[in-house]
Amino acid sequence: MATVVQYERFGGPEVLEVVEVPTPDAPPGAVVVAVKAAGVNPIDAKLRSGARASSEITEPRRVGSDAAGVVVDVGDRVSDWSIGDEVVVRNADGAYASHVVAREDQLVRKPASVSWEVAAAIGVPVSTAYQALRSLGVTDGTTLLLHGGSGSVGRAAIQFAHRWGATVIATAAENNHERLRELGAIPVAYGGGLADRIRAAAPGGIDRVLDAVGTGEALETSFELVADRDHIGTLVVGARAAELGIHAWSGGNPVPLTAEERRLRAEAYDVVLDLLERGEFQIDIARSFPLAEVAEAHRLVEGGHPGGKVLLIP
Ligand SMILES: NC(=O)c1ccc[n+]([C@@H]2O[C@H](COP(=O)([O-])OP(=O)(O)OC[C@H]3O[C@@H](n4cnc5c(N)ncnc54)[C@H](OP(=O)(O)O)[C@@H]3O)[C@@H](O)[C@H]2O)c1
Repeated sequence: MATVVQYERFGGPEVLEVVEVPTPDAPPGAVVVAVKAAGVNPIDAKLRSGARASSEITEPRRVGSDAAGVVVDVGDRVSDWSIGDEVVVRNADGAYASHVVAREDQLVRKPASVSWEVAAAIGVPVSTAYQALRSLGVTDGTTLLLHGGSGSVGRAAIQFAHRWGATVIATAAENNHERLRELGAIPVAYGGGLADRIRAAAPGGIDRVLDAVGTGEALETSFELVADRDHIGTLVVGARAAELGIHAWSGGNPVPLTAEERRLRAEAYDVVLDLLERGEFQIDIARSFPLAEVAEAHRLVEGGHPGGKVLLIP
């Protein structure tokens, strides 16, 4: 049998059920992965609560899109993957599970030196950070303002932007400032007076903004500091992007990602796995929960200050 997390109605973390189902067989063109770790993302909780609109629930809905594990079954017409291969699964359909079915195009090879937890933590946050920074044109010499620097997206964004030669001003609670400095950012506290603190940290001005928080304060401060809204992108208030005249990638944006944006998200896995193997990228894990404690994991993420990546271990 396999263990999966599902819900049958929108609601609080208590709607999450951990149930036993028959272990899946690999259909043609796909494999079955025995999951070693799965990433918990804020979007999982937003979809579960109904805060992010999705289709009506007509059958139990599985949860989670980021997993890492071992191939245990291989379907017909699969040529590149074998039983025993260690993989990262991207855009998984129900990563919170002991077993997940994945098409070949969802698989990325996991280097032996990268832990299961780190491999499962890459997914949504790292690929989004990479794509958004590239789409914004962050490069050598850019001064970037990053709202939400201590989140999983933020920590990845700091490291990419810093590597590419940008100066990164990142907002975060004070207790995270030392860590963000280590990752390559100039941290500033959010809250009243934010614009003045950013001006002091970046006397030459801000060139680009990436918003990974979506608060009114983050948006208003961005508009105060950056005149050209083409240089501002959000990952959170996508539903208002057209009205505000800013870029948005997913995050409620009714306009889907372009083929190039999807390509960048896929490319990020190879880039970051290579950096991780060389010890040149860090992913901070806040806490790992057993699958049975999935509701607790969602509560921690929904609290808004998890302090790094939250994972489930089947
Ligand atoms: N559009 C997309 O494709 C996409 C992809 C990934 C994520 N996202 C979204 O991006 C956001 C961040 O994701 P994540 O995975 O990085 O989340 P996360 O790891 O849970 O981090 C959330 C961060 O928000 C910060 N924060 C909380 N309240 C704040 C406030 N009032 N002002 C400024 N910062 C505040 C916290 O910083 P402190 O602890 O330092 O206070 C925390 O580090 C989520 O809303 C997520 O849904 C969108």
